Amino acid sequence: MIDLDAALRAQLRTPLDATPWTTIGGRRLERYDGKVRDCYIDRERGERIIVVTDRLSAFDAVVGLIPSKGQVLNQLARFWFERTAHLAPNHMLRVPDPNVMIARECTPLPVELVMRAYLTGVTSTSIWRAYERGDRVFCGHRLPDGMRKNQPLPAPILTPSTKAAKGDHDVSVSRDELLAMGRIDPAVFDRAAALAAALFAEGQRFAATRGLILADTKYEMGTAPDGTLTIIDEIHTPDSSRYWYADDYEARLARGDEPRSLDKEYVRRWLANEAHWSGDGPPPAMPDEIRLEAARRYIASYELLTGDRFVPDTRDPLPRIAAALGAA
Ligand SMILES: Nc1ncnc2c1ncn2[C@@H]1O[C@H](COP(=O)(O)OP(=O)(O)OP(=O)(O)O)[C@@H](O)[C@H]1O
Ligand SMILES: [Mg+2]
Repeated sequence: MIDLDAALRAQLRTPLDATPWTTIGGRRLERYDGKVRDCYIDRERGERIIVVTDRLSAFDAVVGLIPSKGQVLNQLARFWFERTAHLAPNHMLRVPDPNVMIARECTPLPVELVMRAYLTGVTSTSIWRAYERGDRVFCGHRLPDGMRKNQPLPAPILTPSTKAAKGDHDVSVSRDELLAMGRIDPAVFDRAAALAAALFAEGQRFAATRGLILADTKYEMGTAPDGTLTIIDEIHTPDSSRYWYADDYEARLARGDEPRSLDKEYVRRWLANEAHWSGDGPPPAMPDEIRLEAARRYIASYELLTGDRFVPDTRDPLPRIAAALGAA
């Protein structure tokens, strides 16, 4: 049995950051680096080789490296893609390494599909901040008066978010506003909305069986070459979702305490409340203890959701992945 905490501490020095390769399988591939994932795009085969790094993004910036985070995210995405494949086609083809997913290359829709079931959030664009300011319509949805932070909404709502260019912040819009922009076909959008609602219902149902509340989540979708609307990127991970413990949710709500969360809310709160940083200027350096606690929470989400023990791959990540992919 490995000592998880010792393994995580060792990984503080060797997390998986940027990947340096120029060829995969001897071929030069197009490359796109997101905040969290390094993507190598194989146009010939219509595949995207996604390396999920340990980078953590918050307030739209990369703020640090969290031990085992990439592995947790990739393995959780795999878990959920397998569990929800009957509800919506997804991009997953193969998982050749704990940190890598090979996916079908799709043309992303220019919108993220955000499903929310609770009145919550910390960023200036969150539904809670809008409500607190007095807004009673959010992305076209009317909200009742007299609600408190972290209460359930009358029903889950879709709040589409337009994808901003790198470095910019995304903007939440209503269906009408989105369609008026003319960037997406209404029929495609409505189909995407239906998939998002079905996936979210299943995510909430399953999370509840594990003692968790899936408060909100974000889906990315794209069209495959044959036109199939496909779930891409990641699904129901602690990066794309807000998970709360269900057991003490009511008691904490009644006391006015924040829910116990399993997602990167922990890091967001540290950044905002301790480091007084919310996205402007260079991010503060994260102390090792904060990085470790974040790692423990990511791992807890994996173990709670899957019911399996998380076993970190402790081999040096770059040579290991290079060998798995034939990358140089
Ligand atoms: N199957 C797919 N086909 C095409 N694009 C995909 C697919 N899966 C994921 N992507 C894209 O790959 C990138 C993954 O990187 P990552 O999640 O780190 O990006 P991000 O920082 O969240 O977003 P950004 O694109 O703004 O950098 C995203 O741009 C995502 O939209
Ligand atoms: Mg992403």
